[in-house]
Amino acid sequence: MPLNVISLNTAESHHDLTIAPPPAGLALKGRLRVPGDKSISHRALMLGALAEGETTIAGLLLGEDPHSTANCFRAMGADISPLNTEQVTVHGIGLGQLLEPIDVLNAGNSGTTLRLMLGVLASHAGRFFTVTGDQSLRSRPMSRVVQPLRQMGAEVWGRQNATLAPLAVQGKNLRPFHYHSPIASAQVKSCLLLAGLMTDGATTVTEPALSRDHSERMLKAFGADLTVDPETCSVIVTGPTRLKGQSVVVPGDISSAAFWLVAGAIVPDADLTIENVGVNPTRIGVLEALALMGADITQENQRIVAGEPVADLHVRYAGSGDRPPLYACTLGGDLIPRLIDEIPVLAVAATFAQGITIIQDAAELRVKESDRIAVTAHQLNQMGARITEQPDGMEIVGGTPLTGTAVDSYTDHRIAMSLAIAALTATGTTTIHRAEAVAVSYPDFVATLEQLCIASTLS
Ligand code: S3P
Repeated sequence: MPLNVISLNTAESHHDLTIAPPPAGLALKGRLRVPGDKSISHRALMLGALAEGETTIAGLLLGEDPHSTANCFRAMGADISPLNTEQVTVHGIGLGQLLEPIDVLNAGNSGTTLRLMLGVLASHAGRFFTVTGDQSLRSRPMSRVVQPLRQMGAEVWGRQNATLAPLAVQGKNLRPFHYHSPIASAQVKSCLLLAGLMTDGATTVTEPALSRDHSERMLKAFGADLTVDPETCSVIVTGPTRLKGQSVVVPGDISSAAFWLVAGAIVPDADLTIENVGVNPTRIGVLEALALMGADITQENQRIVAGEPVADLHVRYAGSGDRPPLYACTLGGDLIPRLIDEIPVLAVAATFAQGITIIQDAAELRVKESDRIAVTAHQLNQMGARITEQPDGMEIVGGTPLTGTAVDSYTDHRIAMSLAIAALTATGTTTIHRAEAVAVSYPDFVATLEQLCIASTLS
């Protein structure tokens, strides 16, 4: 066995993941696919539910987060077939037609489900809704969407002046509004655009830098009256509008591919191709960052699938002789929204880079599924990294060999997978507590890791 991966059941359905690379090192070679894009999967389910007629979705992510979205919209009358990757069929209920659910809507761990859905609920006049989530989601800030929705006339109640879930919403006819968002957030932007679909007049969202634009692309495809001004990072939706069911093809998630891209960049002699990955320009910050760091990554077989750019990503280990595998760099400014979810695994890459990597302007990381600045720094430091936390990022001293030890995901899926990638090059055994979190966005992560390592030995 090239790599010893053991999953153990422990108390309260938490799982430990134990990774012990062979002393001689791994040979990571092969081709793989990653699951469907999480952001696009949520939006396909939601717009399908709000559209008239049938929507079909191929390549949907089967993680826990899309299940949360599907269950919420089923509870409001949408007919969504059992989720699968081949073809999900959604018979939409039509904008404005959602039924008042008879129980609390549960968004689980998913900030995208809760925040986007709030825009839909607030604009469904005459219905009352209650929404909640898991422990992590109930501690994440909701004021970023509740406050602008209230400026549109929404009625929302909840803990600490409706800044934390559980929340209650009385649907109303809202007023159009131009919101200048202080943060570049696709969740905020999409929430308000969804509220604007049912609002009479032009709802505009301007953000300080461009966040992912999957909502804009998909809303246009579903027939919304939507204009984008890239110069000012503004989007205008004019309502009321009607959506018509579409056929959506979900590409592989670049946020999941990022784990293998970093593995390929830090494991000596690695040569991996990740097929069918979404390379939307608003999402490829991780490619830009790894290119800045000197990684050898090429995009092959570039094409457009259902309105989204897609490519196969080929990564080869770039270190040799005197050349380190990576060089340090500074990541900040407008690049941050384009790689926000990839920063924990980029921090792993930075521990292999020559020099000091600085990540700045990323305070948003503190309010993700965990405080990703504190957790990334602390957990990687346990393995021997030298990372200093900053209020809005981290300073990472490269070239520090990692040693296996006990670490914790803090129930955050991206932290669990980043630690697993770090463990591939560590000396000795790493045990990741609460590794079951990977199921939120990548249920097959451990199986893929095992297959890749076995295939690498055989080839
Ligand atoms: C998402 C947007 C991002 C990202 C999240 C998914 C989306 O959050 O971190 O994982 O699908 O809209 P913000 O919009 O809050 O930055």
